[in-house]
Amino acid sequence: MALSLSYSSSAAFTVVACPARSPPPRRLPSAVCFIRAVDTAPRAPLPCASSTYPPQPFVPEVAEAVESLYSEFRDVDNLVAHNSMRVLKAFQNAGVGSHHFNGCTGYGHDDGGGRETLDSVFAKIVGAESAIVRSQFFSGTHAIACALFAFLRPGNELLAVAGAPYDTLEEVIGIRQSSITGSLKDFGVTYHEVPKMGASTGMLFPLLLSIADIERAIRVIKMQKPDCMVMVDNCYGEFVETYEPPMVGADLIAGSLIKNPGGTIAPCGGYVAGKRIWVEAAAARLSAPGLGVDCGSMTGDVRRALFQGLFLSPQMVGEAIKGGLLIAEVMSMKGYKVQPLPRAPRHDIVQAVQLGGRERLISFCEAVQRSCPIGSYIKPTAGVTTGYASEMEVQVSCHAMDHLGSHLQFSVREGLTGLIGHLLWEKF
Ligand SMILES: Cc1ncc(COP(=O)(O)O)c(C=O)c1O
Repeated sequence: MALSLSYSSSAAFTVVACPARSPPPRRLPSAVCFIRAVDTAPRAPLPCASSTYPPQPFVPEVAEAVESLYSEFRDVDNLVAHNSMRVLKAFQNAGVGSHHFNGCTGYGHDDGGGRETLDSVFAKIVGAESAIVRSQFFSGTHAIACALFAFLRPGNELLAVAGAPYDTLEEVIGIRQSSITGSLKDFGVTYHEVPKMGASTGMLFPLLLSIADIERAIRVIKMQKPDCMVMVDNCYGEFVETYEPPMVGADLIAGSLIKNPGGTIAPCGGYVAGKRIWVEAAAARLSAPGLGVDCGSMTGDVRRALFQGLFLSPQMVGEAIKGGLLIAEVMSMKGYKVQPLPRAPRHDIVQAVQLGGRERLISFCEAVQRSCPIGSYIKPTAGVTTGYASEMEVQVSCHAMDHLGSHLQFSVREGLTGLIGHLLWEKF
């Protein structure tokens, strides 16, 4: 059989299956006749496929980098295929059906099994015993806070083993302005930090841990102190490798659906996954002790969007990794300091570029904003954002991108004028 494409005047593409040679026409029974009748009047030939692609769409530096990154991009495609299969299998094994997409209100008791199914699909995907995936988590910080409060009790110690935690966790822990807000410190949890790796070698950021590093660290920690619980802040790390932290022994992970596992589709939400007992404790922090995982409404189409975003996530993460590789390649060719280095293995989708000056950073941000599909007319300004100590740039841009479910973030930190680009868009 040969396939040909024709364009019918009724404004729809029609796929026509034509036999290669022309045997006498055979009528299909109407039940299987899915091919629409086609107007056979002669038409101008369609342009050949190759000429329908536009000429090189990139500026020369980017085009050159794209050419040189083919083998890295192929590796990313393989990663995407592997992780997409992992997600697909989890959907199939959990028997996800369209009835799981229904919205529900009030306590959420009438959710038709969607809440439980989404939780169990997520748990399977990350190799955890249990998970709670909810639109009611405001953000990654909120989910991580619930996970930390699940573990820690007065008199316990929190030890950060991969350098300082992310900025917004400083107030959760009580490192910064914590009085009366109910930080861990307020509740008598002490905090210590293993010195930052890479701090002495001029890194823009502490080196991130790979899943293999996490596995090694967990093994050592559990060997020395078997009752020590391990939580991994997994924001921006999901689907960047073929394993997730619970598969290598993490007791809990937490993250945001407006990052990787939302696949740019989830409008809000977060997750906690890991050992059942701790997931239930985190759920009690999100809701209330006694309510746990068994309630919570999700109105309208939100759950459908969460399923859809989760399904698309490996692909979106793949795009983000390619974007990061491209940025690292182009910006380092132009003489900027980048981290991770060009072509270095990725453990999350963060790409830092040291632009070397406030003015440069602002004009870069303005250029990104101008290229945005939403709010391209907005001129971003530097501003302070809740949860951050340092001035943040282009929150307007972040928010505009968030409307599309994507997330783009720039930051200016003490002693460092840099950029963290969680780029889900390939162009910048
Ligand atoms: C490693 C890490 N943890 C936590 C967070 C906080 O997530 P959110 O902004 O969703 O609260 C971020 C945000 O960029 C992050 O990069």
